[in-house]
Amino acid sequence: MSGHGTPEPLRSRKAAALTGQARVPGDKSISHRSLILGAMAVGETRISGLLDGEDVLRTADAMRAFGAEVTEHGPGEWSVHGVGVGGFREPEDVIDCGNAGTGVRLIMGAMATTPITATFTGDASLRSRPMGRVTDPIALFGAQAYGRDGGRLPMTVIGAADPIPVRYHTPMPSAQVKSAVLLAGLNAPGETVVIETEPTRDHSERMLRGFGAELSVDDTDEGRVITLKGHPELKPQTIDVPRDPSSAAFPVCAALIVEGSDVLVPNIGLNPTRAGLFETLRDMGADLTYENVREEGGEPVADLRARFSPDMKGIDVPPERAASMIDEYPILSVVASFATGTTSMHGVKELRVKESDRIDAMAQGLRANGVSVNEGEDWWEVEGLGPNGVPGGATVEARLDHRIAMSFLCLGMAARDPVTVDDAAAVRTSFPIFEPLMTDLGARFERVNG
Ligand code: S3P
Repeated sequence: MSGHGTPEPLRSRKAAALTGQARVPGDKSISHRSLILGAMAVGETRISGLLDGEDVLRTADAMRAFGAEVTEHGPGEWSVHGVGVGGFREPEDVIDCGNAGTGVRLIMGAMATTPITATFTGDASLRSRPMGRVTDPIALFGAQAYGRDGGRLPMTVIGAADPIPVRYHTPMPSAQVKSAVLLAGLNAPGETVVIETEPTRDHSERMLRGFGAELSVDDTDEGRVITLKGHPELKPQTIDVPRDPSSAAFPVCAALIVEGSDVLVPNIGLNPTRAGLFETLRDMGADLTYENVREEGGEPVADLRARFSPDMKGIDVPPERAASMIDEYPILSVVASFATGTTSMHGVKELRVKESDRIDAMAQGLRANGVSVNEGEDWWEVEGLGPNGVPGGATVEARLDHRIAMSFLCLGMAARDPVTVDDAAAVRTSFPIFEPLMTDLGARFERVNG
């Protein structure tokens, strides 16, 4: 597992044109939710296109520990035999969620209203991340949580025996927090209400409805009000997981900055709660087109075509777009380094509590590679050096963060001198085929002795 083994340094050299098709893996958010909701339905859910990254495999193991039968039938093909809402059994051992914030937070919510006890842990990155954002709302249902100082893992959660429904205003834009509350609400009587001021990814809402829960969404002056009726019988589903726009971001952005590139990334979900990066790139003047736009499973889907874009300009990224591209700021900052002018990113303090402090990780790594970055608590800006303007040449720390590692490997594809990532193992959490896929397009990686 990443974070426990020998470091795997990887160097990325300036590439010739990237060309071809990039078939990126299944969506991580939807993969976690498919397993968890499948485990809470009665009967067999079939899933195809499931991401087989480490984060999701941890969630599969966790669902087994809570009593569901989870089986892999072939690449991406899975089944989950669920135990029903309120049917989780007490795990016999500690649940290790690895690197996965989404996994641990959603599972804590899902078990919080069942009278069982579970202890959660994770890798060094996950153990440093705040869990109070989930333990606060689940306490309102009647659950108890005992963790390390600052609400960190390892943490034991004792599910409520007599849960009461909750009305909860999320204090930060977080789909994980929203989803944890909704999953807890499944086994509470009456109506659980979550209100979010800024809309975040809505996969939980869509999937809960798909599984047969009664759920309504109202846009009001107070915000987006989501109301869930407790104690539904969730019906097993057949789920085709769409490809992950957050993974698509890497080949798309690499193509924009590597001279002569022309890359097609087929079948990418363009759910508006996830597509903010692509709009931002187009605002910067990127040659990024949506081809073959269609609807699949109620979601807009397109093939993304990205071509080398030497004329991109720095922009002020609208803060209200932050939630829809929250995982994409690291790779956006790489693209911004090759644009002309300054790219400013505001309203992004959540980046400080991701798998790493992503503002700090990117700022330090970009500076080491010759790019100027200014930052404050909830904003940062990158001074673009134009195409072929980034010196490169440095070794950067991935900090157990897959998106930091992949972002700097993309930087190396277009910088003048190679860029080395100290440990690329974390890439396996979300994009296990990143290296071969990018190599097929024309990237040049090389293993380095640690
Ligand atoms: C996710 C929500 C986001 C995102 C994460 C996946 C999800 O986290 O960063 O990669 O699947 O709900 P927050 O809810 O903390 O913003």
